[in-house]
Amino acid sequence: MSVQWFPGHMAKARRQIEEKLKLIDLVIELLDARIPLASRNPMIDQILKNKPRLVLLNKADLADPEVTARWVEAFAQDGLSALPIDASSGKEVAQIVPKSKERLKEKREAQLRKGINPRAMRALIVGIPNVGKSTLINRMAGRSIAATGDRPGVTKAQAWIKVGTEMELLDTPGILWPKFEDEQVGIRLAATGAIKDEILNVEDIAFHTTKYLLEHYPDMLKERYDLDELPTVEQLEEPDQVVAVMEAVGRRRGCLQAGGMVNLEKASQALLRDLRSGRLGRISFETP
Ligand code: G4P
Repeated sequence: MSVQWFPGHMAKARRQIEEKLKLIDLVIELLDARIPLASRNPMIDQILKNKPRLVLLNKADLADPEVTARWVEAFAQDGLSALPIDASSGKEVAQIVPKSKERLKEKREAQLRKGINPRAMRALIVGIPNVGKSTLINRMAGRSIAATGDRPGVTKAQAWIKVGTEMELLDTPGILWPKFEDEQVGIRLAATGAIKDEILNVEDIAFHTTKYLLEHYPDMLKERYDLDELPTVEQLEEPDQVVAVMEAVGRRRGCLQAGGMVNLEKASQALLRDLRSGRLGRISFETP
């Protein structure tokens, strides 16, 4: 994460988004499909007020599809339309314009009744760092847009990117801070790569991640690293048991140090790399 969030930064980020809200019809709120809670800004409702909103669950290619489907239902129950997408491959990105139109249907119909021809919908993408905002903007623009968010001290004119004939997108996304409420949330953000490993200890992140995987996705671990036996649910309460699995992973991945001992730091990095690249399988860290 390039930005360390302090109260001053948060206030500035909020102000910048509030300024942009005046220019747009719709907010596209980008969340990480694997962690829709931890990747959601805690003040989002206060910041966006009643601006029409479309929620996108990005990186759906890395998330457990069954869990993602449950999230879509949960958002619908909250009155929010949520669409799982994969900005890097472009999967479902073509649905963004029709879904946005649906979201703004009433306003557009009212305009038509008054004889006003609605102009292209204007939208702003918002989300925490690393959630895929730039990737999505480039994907929707169909080309590479250099700008990646607001930089302190750099003012630049707002530019609109045409997405077909029906939508215009602000070229600079709104950058929001994630939740930081407790350690578990921090670990989920770190496990998915939303915050840099330097902020939390990599072995700690890998430890909690391994424990989570043993609880929720044991077969994926077993298969990927060709492990014979995994600890039982009760044994997971003993930290040594979890560390033993990390060591087994390290051995499989060739993370050894002098004397043939497993280098736990390297093993942790290897495990997290496998997880973040999807090589372990499709994994969600939060359920509705
Ligand atoms: P940001 O503007 O919100 O900060 O995020 P950005 O687009 O820079 O994306 C952050 C990382 O997430 C990038 O990987 C990007 O490729 C990846 N990403 C974005 N959308 C998706 C998606 O739908 N699925 C998957 N699997 N990954 C996605 P990176 O490792 O930082 O860079 P690179 O691998 O693209 O070089």
